Amino acid sequence: MYQLIQFKTPSILFGMDTINQIGQEAKKLGAGRVLLVTGPRVKAAGILEKALSFLKGDSLSVEVAVEDRDTPEPATTVVEEVAEIARKGNFDVIIGLGGGSILDVAKMASALLTNPGKTADYFGKEKVPKRGKPTIIVPTTAGTGAEVTKHAIFLDRESNVKKAVASTNLLPDVAIVDPMLTVSCPPPVTASAGIDAFLHAAEPFLSKMANPITDAMSLEAISITSRWLGPAFADGQDLDARYYMSLGSVMSGIVLNNSGTSLVHAMAYPVGGEYHTPHGVTLSALVVACFDYIRVSKQEKMVRLARAMGEPVDGLPPREASARALDAVRHLIQSVGLPASLRDLKITDTGKIPRWAVEAHQEQRLLSRSPRNLSVEDIQKIYEKAF
Ligand SMILES: [Fe+2]
Repeated sequence: MYQLIQFKTPSILFGMDTINQIGQEAKKLGAGRVLLVTGPRVKAAGILEKALSFLKGDSLSVEVAVEDRDTPEPATTVVEEVAEIARKGNFDVIIGLGGGSILDVAKMASALLTNPGKTADYFGKEKVPKRGKPTIIVPTTAGTGAEVTKHAIFLDRESNVKKAVASTNLLPDVAIVDPMLTVSCPPPVTASAGIDAFLHAAEPFLSKMANPITDAMSLEAISITSRWLGPAFADGQDLDARYYMSLGSVMSGIVLNNSGTSLVHAMAYPVGGEYHTPHGVTLSALVVACFDYIRVSKQEKMVRLARAMGEPVDGLPPREASARALDAVRHLIQSVGLPASLRDLKITDTGKIPRWAVEAHQEQRLLSRSPRNLSVEDIQKIYEKAF
């Protein structure tokens, strides 16, 4: 009843063409010398050139160096290399411009400039003692929420499992969210990132850590992402769809940062680590089985979730109304060409389930927020159901 609520967010600049503020924002943070970390798709789409023109504006006198990294699944080694470059070049502001993986590299590299050791030393909850050098985080996809969260996810090569650094000191200083930067994002990435955004609102909404502030934002983000993901997937040039998906994504990122994800994300880590499937794709294959499992403990919220997704649930008995939420989620996933089960994902080997269940169960940082208690055997049953 008397819940402690903490609410944290970076300074956010959201809107069409806000990328033109990037130089001014860098200047406000004390640049100087800026290291911009980005990836090949950003360069190819002309986004890098656009960002550089606003960073190097005549009156700003900002020096910029670009690190262009191909990191679909960032290894911790890339973070350490970027941090070393930043240290040697004495850069005072780090900018991440790209998809979630690039943004995580930029956030973590900044932290390694003021904290000793390597990324692996900071896996887990609140282990980064000091804030890094100032960061500006600029997403070019709508979904990960990395621009407003304290998380950075990496593939740990030793265990082949994705692991998270979750530390308030990783929260960016400034998030610049410009929907125009997502227009060139291809349909499969739009779909995968978009489902991630949807789940960053829906999963925390059903978790133990939900609170009235994040619930309000969750419901609006659920409504926006479920309404606009289809149009953004079908026509990338649909600016309304891009605008609302970016808005839904930043809102769900704020929810994620303040109430956290749970079971679906925990169960996705071992599968994604093993098959190297994109994050949103892996989540899609597991979410219906997970939500079905927790439905018994969150029926009233499932009804609200269904309503936010546009399902006509008024007057239905709660059991039927909450089942509509599962149908709506499955339909949303399938409508954008994503797998609604592990079998859809072309994974047929059930022999790995016992190991996955043990690994997912170790993600207590996430599972402690689950509304229904989960043993290793329970998680095993959910994996079986997800087939
Ligand atoms: Fe996610």
